[in-house]
Amino acid sequence: MRIGFIGTGGITSAIVAGLCTSQLEFDVIRVSPRNRETSLALKKRFDRVRIGESNQDVLDHSDVVILAILPQDMKKILADLDFKSGQVVIHLLAGVKISEISPLIEPGITVIRAVPLPCVAIHKGPIALFPENETAVSLFEVLGSVIVVDSELQLESLSIVTALMAPYYALLNTVSDWAVNQGIGRKNATDYTTAMFGALSLIAEQPADGDIRSLIKESMTRGGLNELAMSTIDERGGFDNVVHALDRVKIKVTG
Ligand SMILES: NC(=O)c1ccc[n+]([C@@H]2O[C@H](COP(=O)([O-])OP(=O)(O)OC[C@H]3O[C@@H](n4cnc5c(N)ncnc54)[C@H](OP(=O)(O)O)[C@@H]3O)[C@@H](O)[C@H]2O)c1
Repeated sequence: MRIGFIGTGGITSAIVAGLCTSQLEFDVIRVSPRNRETSLALKKRFDRVRIGESNQDVLDHSDVVILAILPQDMKKILADLDFKSGQVVIHLLAGVKISEISPLIEPGITVIRAVPLPCVAIHKGPIALFPENETAVSLFEVLGSVIVVDSELQLESLSIVTALMAPYYALLNTVSDWAVNQGIGRKNATDYTTAMFGALSLIAEQPADGDIRSLIKESMTRGGLNELAMSTIDERGGFDNVVHALDRVKIKVTG
């Protein structure tokens, strides 16, 4: 398989790093010359990375093409390009529907939409995908947990959840700060906090039906410390502010 990227920026760097350090069998990755600095850095770092002479050169030498350009550049970049029949095109452009991008690509070409996160560089995290496609699944499953959804609307809803990355780090930092204020060194405070939340997330990934409500109950001994913490948070509105934040992001995304 030959993989091409149009747009060599942050997310392309993460995917290329993840692919080149994975077990996936592929021949070569060809990235677009822009951004020059980033494409040169990737070529220097990984043997199987080549820099295309142009965007068209990337397309001409790729079986799978990943579009990782900014939405505002999409029309002018795609207008000049000829795709080949049989190519699989995976588009990553946030907020851009398949129906908006497909007319800019030759008819009959399969267009898949995916939402990866930068943690694909370390083969972790979710990658939402729609519609199901064998090639796209095989490419992304080495980079994290592939979640194939039933509609583009579902994919957009999951992409809204990614707005909680900064709040999540802020939660970790708040807990770490609190521990530091108790006299614990910063490194130990952060190591303990991140190891605990990491382990809890691993446990929460286990239920086959995805129902994690029982974990809340199981973690609370009657009259115990978790029950006290939970009721204290509930007295201040619980996690309503998280739902409110997701609703506001949804309004911004959907207009
Ligand atoms: N970052 C993420 O975590 C993430 C996750 C999922 C999806 N996405 C989506 O992926 C896309 C890229 O995001 P990003 O964060 O990687 O953005 P980025 O770092 O700004 O990368 C965009 C790249 O497009 C290049 N570019 C500009 N004009 C071009 C042209 N004519 N031909 C080829 N490449 C051109 C830019 O090069 P110059 O620097 O030379 O202008 C830049 O390297 C966006 O649509 C975003 O919504 C991002």
